Amino acid sequence: MNIVILENAAKVEEYTAALILSEIQHRPYPKLGLATGRTMEGVYKHLVQAYNRGFDFSNITTFNLDEYVGLSPIDEASYRAYMDKHFFNQTNVERARTHLPHGLAESMVDEVEKYRSLLEEAGSLDLQLLGIGNNGHIGFNEPPALFGSETRIIELSEETRQQNAGAFENNLEDVPTHAITMGINTILKAKKLVLVATGPSKAEAVAGAIEGPLRASLPASAIQLHHSVWIILDIAAANQLKLQTYYHRQAANSTKIQEVHDYIDKYMRS
Ligand code: GLP
Repeated sequence: MNIVILENAAKVEEYTAALILSEIQHRPYPKLGLATGRTMEGVYKHLVQAYNRGFDFSNITTFNLDEYVGLSPIDEASYRAYMDKHFFNQTNVERARTHLPHGLAESMVDEVEKYRSLLEEAGSLDLQLLGIGNNGHIGFNEPPALFGSETRIIELSEETRQQNAGAFENNLEDVPTHAITMGINTILKAKKLVLVATGPSKAEAVAGAIEGPLRASLPASAIQLHHSVWIILDIAAANQLKLQTYYHRQAANSTKIQEVHDYIDKYMRS
């Protein structure tokens, strides 16, 4: 695992964006798995900034992790609208190559099949960006989540609906009860996982995911099964990790981790 612990959320967002840029530049047709949530807003802000400084996104294909069931893509609270607003509409990403499940499809059963097939046809994604819920979910894989799960419809927990109510003007009753999400096994098929967390509310889930046992009740712990994982944290989110000194020492000696800083210098700092 490449565990990078940075001073604050702003640095985490900047570093994560730089890591994505380096992935894009290393591949002719990068396939990215994308995520939503407040943590990612700052990451996309930096990607847009990189675009404004000449970075080209025209060759990327994207697949998002999840979408709310019952929201149309033009509903402001939908993840499609989020992606359009924070990233796609502000850069030269080819819209036809951006994919999210349709939350208001005529048949959600067919929509699940459709998204599964799209992902299968695409083959392994080069990088999968992941946030983490306070309850340890990744995508919308609520605990307990089978590690063998694929794209499916899931019922959201009360905790998750409360956490995400901000996007619905804090009206809990407006937060959909279900979502369509890539499964844990779908996520694990990506070539590289990048998990990002900031703030104290994530500390327990982060510690469990990295240093705890593998368990369905902490879906993010499934990342331990993967061969290439990056975890970018601020001090608050890293707070409950026991081996922090070790992670800092490893990061200081890692050329891979240092390489990403070159992208920060080139595209994010004037
Ligand atoms: C939602 C998304 C998750 C994301 C989580 C964290 O639940 N489905 O993919 O990881 O939010 O969100 P935030 O960054 O707002 O804490």
